[in-house]
Amino acid sequence: MSSIELVPGLAGIPAAESSVSFIDGQAGILEYRGYPIEALSEHSTYEEVAWLLLYGELPSASELAAFNKDLEELRVLPDALVAMIQAFPKTGHPMQALQASLAGLGMVSPKVNIKDADSRDQAARRVIAATPVLVAAFERVRAGKEYVAPKAGLRTAENFLWCLDGEAPDEVAAKTLDCALILHAEHTMNASTFACRVVGSTENDPYTSCSGAVGALFGPLHGGANERVLNQLGTIGDISNVEAWFEGKTERKEKVMGFGHRVYKTKDPRAKNLQILATEMFGKLGNTPKYDVALKLEQVVTEKLGSRGIYPNVDFFSGLVYEKLGLDTDVFTPIFAMARVSGYCSHWCEQMLDNKLFRPAQIYKGEREREYVSIDKR
Ligand code: ACO
Repeated sequence: MSSIELVPGLAGIPAAESSVSFIDGQAGILEYRGYPIEALSEHSTYEEVAWLLLYGELPSASELAAFNKDLEELRVLPDALVAMIQAFPKTGHPMQALQASLAGLGMVSPKVNIKDADSRDQAARRVIAATPVLVAAFERVRAGKEYVAPKAGLRTAENFLWCLDGEAPDEVAAKTLDCALILHAEHTMNASTFACRVVGSTENDPYTSCSGAVGALFGPLHGGANERVLNQLGTIGDISNVEAWFEGKTERKEKVMGFGHRVYKTKDPRAKNLQILATEMFGKLGNTPKYDVALKLEQVVTEKLGSRGIYPNVDFFSGLVYEKLGLDTDVFTPIFAMARVSGYCSHWCEQMLDNKLFRPAQIYKGEREREYVSIDKR
């Protein structure tokens, strides 16, 4: 009998001390370095938030200008990396491409000295700067289009849209995406951030660590849900079908994508903000019938499952926003990732400052001391 008890999914077990973000699942509070995300999404830009996450304070105007300049330079992909992305199978999922591209970014970047603050910093900034360009590059490649290099003078969200289309980005689209990036930038010790810290704890650089994190984010129970939410809304089709569709799901004991969260037992504050964003954007760019289905689904699921703490999570509204921006469904999770790398890198830096190799225990349930049987006797 083992004296240690298994906690499935390590639920509630602290894996690190961190001052990057704070979450109160019961009250629906999320703060980055002590600042509520509501204030950040209303007043900040993604770059300000990335700086805040990395360094713990909001940047001054001159710090932000220098940071933006740095990101602009680090955004430029070496030819060898572009060639690598152009050689990827077009049938691959953009998250698979991103995972490989981040490892590739490490191959073409200076070796990281994890003991040196400048070296760590530069690598973290390179990941934050280059990830959106990597995502856009694969989007172009798989559509059979030429690679579009980033453009000087544009910030992260604008540049991503530029690299996707090769055209000056729409102002509403860029502003909306910037805000969505802020809302997805960080979220305490979730599965992918934990994966990042685990890989980092072997004294790995942020390229490899973020590549590992992107693998974890790809799964349908984590970042992959936003893609499925939209497919789900498409399957429901019309608000008149919502109740019957939900009953069918309940009978088959299937989960409704975009609802429920390991920590939040109320409506995810990011979902609230994304809903405001979606409403504003639909007001400016025109409504989508899927939004009406989503609102009805929220009402039905909340009525039936709200008492069990199951409410919309961040993925519920993000897909609707991205679809309206004209983005392909399977690029939603990569957009999540290109925002979240600022959170990953902040955790990676924190891990490097006080590193201990992750090496949890297991509870062994298998057989012991068996006698070897040669192959001719099996
Ligand atoms: N729809 C219906 N029932 C649900 C849902 C849901 N979305 N989520 C949880 N439940 C039910 C489960 O069926 C289970 O019921 P049971 O006790 O009768 O078996 C109970 O609630 C507990 O479910 P768990 O999956 O064990 O709860 P957990 O806290 O681990 O759930 C999770 C978190 C994995 C996110 C879950 O809510 C889920 O799978 N949601 C759907 C996928 C999704 O939207 N993921 C995105 C999460 S946000 C993010 O990662 C960015």
